[in-house]
Amino acid sequence: MKPDVMVLYPTRPKAWAQLEAAYTLHRYDEAEDKAAFLAAHGPKCQGVVTNGHAKLSRQMVEAMPQLKVVACSSAGYEDIDVDALTDHGVTLTNTSVALCDDVADTAIMLMLAARRGLIDAHAYTVAGDWGRKGMYPLQHTLKGARLGIVGMGTIGQAIAARCSVMGMQIAYYGRREKPEIAYPYVADLTALAAESDVIVLAVAGGDATRGLMDEAALNALGPYGVLVNIARGSVVDEPAMIRALKDGRLGRAGLDVFLNEPNPDPELTALPNVTLYPHHASGTEETRDAMAQLVVDNLAAFYADQPLLTAVN
Ligand code: DGY
Repeated sequence: MKPDVMVLYPTRPKAWAQLEAAYTLHRYDEAEDKAAFLAAHGPKCQGVVTNGHAKLSRQMVEAMPQLKVVACSSAGYEDIDVDALTDHGVTLTNTSVALCDDVADTAIMLMLAARRGLIDAHAYTVAGDWGRKGMYPLQHTLKGARLGIVGMGTIGQAIAARCSVMGMQIAYYGRREKPEIAYPYVADLTALAAESDVIVLAVAGGDATRGLMDEAALNALGPYGVLVNIARGSVVDEPAMIRALKDGRLGRAGLDVFLNEPNPDPELTALPNVTLYPHHASGTEETRDAMAQLVVDNLAAFYADQPLLTAVN
């Protein structure tokens, strides 16, 4: 008999076919009553397939007494109650290793777009201003610029690897200094922002990092500073960031994530000094397939009594 697995968020076709072949899938449809679905299917399932945006509360965990593994197709998991999983001996896996390159590429894309004025320069060229007004204003190079990385995890390190090749000077901030990281650690975010031309936020979301990039840190980054956020909208004090971008206390921002997704604050979308991306840092065919495959492989490891590939807790 095939083991029962609950699916809170569907996955890519190739991975889905593998899941269907190996398990009896209990797929939750958002239109369904969640409590009724859990009561009917929860008690049978040892495994859950989900992503970082589908809620998995303590109450849900407790409705699945046999639950042993949650395979999550994302880097972030702030909507999953990890403490509840740990309390009930359930292991969570994520897919940071599969998506870190695309997310790091997105950070570089936003950094370059912001430092070189890509969006505005595109509009300038399309509008014919090049011919009418002359050369586009000079911008700022990345080589030699000071980069502060906030969060030196898998994604932060992938960003550092790229930026080091580009000749940037790197320092980082995080919960603690990591002896395995060669770049200088700065124990205070405002101090790091004051020493940086570009700050990239690459920390996990959730309560521990809510509003971390606050008004003081934004002011310290300053009128020529660039803020790149590929983490979560909640990591920045977004109203303070909008005010700072509006009155020139902060130079530019490149943002993949927002407080209100999928409808970012209209005050933010109206600003000329921002480059915005629709929370799509891992949004490539290749990476989404790799993430889905990692979910399949983690479940397979669990049912084969092998160590999980990317356990979080
Ligand atoms: C994730 O997977 O958590 C990120 O949002 C990717 O962009």
